Amino acid sequence: MPERNGRFITLEGIDGAGKSTHVGWLAEHLAVTGHEVVATREPGGTPLGEELRRLLLTAPMTHDSEALLMFAARREHLEQVIRPALARGAWVVCDRFTDATYAYQGGGHGVARERIRMLEDWVHGDCQPDLTLLFDVPPAVSRSRLAKAQHEGRALDKFEREAAAFFERVRDAYLERAGADAARFRIVDSTQPVASVRAALAAHLDALAGQGAAA
Ligand code: TYD
Repeated sequence: MPERNGRFITLEGIDGAGKSTHVGWLAEHLAVTGHEVVATREPGGTPLGEELRRLLLTAPMTHDSEALLMFAARREHLEQVIRPALARGAWVVCDRFTDATYAYQGGGHGVARERIRMLEDWVHGDCQPDLTLLFDVPPAVSRSRLAKAQHEGRALDKFEREAAAFFERVRDAYLERAGADAARFRIVDSTQPVASVRAALAAHLDALAGQGAAA
């Protein structure tokens, strides 16, 4: 196992669940505790990853190609950003990671879970998040938030334009994964006001920091 001194935190949830509202705050909350924080995102996080993101969010492609490109971007991201940061002791806050592939390409688009598992093993079997914060809202709430964003002039991407049933499946897949790995996942009720969500996030982060101190 490669050297790893930092902590790896991932943020997940259906589109419109409110991740973006909290990601900057979360990184700042960690930085004031004195850690180096690397805030990054998937797909993306490297020049090639951002190119792939542009394609993934706009170009029509098969669901298998989507899964494969997600993992190609992820491999670059791991090698160039995530592993080096963890090795030097930084805390990495990553907006989406492999749970999103299980939820979107697997749950949403029907790519076989075993195939995703094979790619996961290949690309980062030895590097898993320490903590995954799952921002959870019912799809109806997410849709009304996306409709508001669209109304305010933001163009929706390929995934955000999917039908309600797609988001139901994505959310179900996320909740199933969270249920199967309660040690890693924390489900955050993202229908709550921003201040309550932040209080919950702070408690989860502080618990992770405490584990570090005890180790
Ligand atoms: P998102 O993280 O919601 O970014 P923004 O805050 O800019 O809206 O957008 C990324 C999209 O990519 C999102 O719709 C989910 C999708 N996605 C997958 O389908 N599979 C994956 O493995 C990842 C990482 C993202």
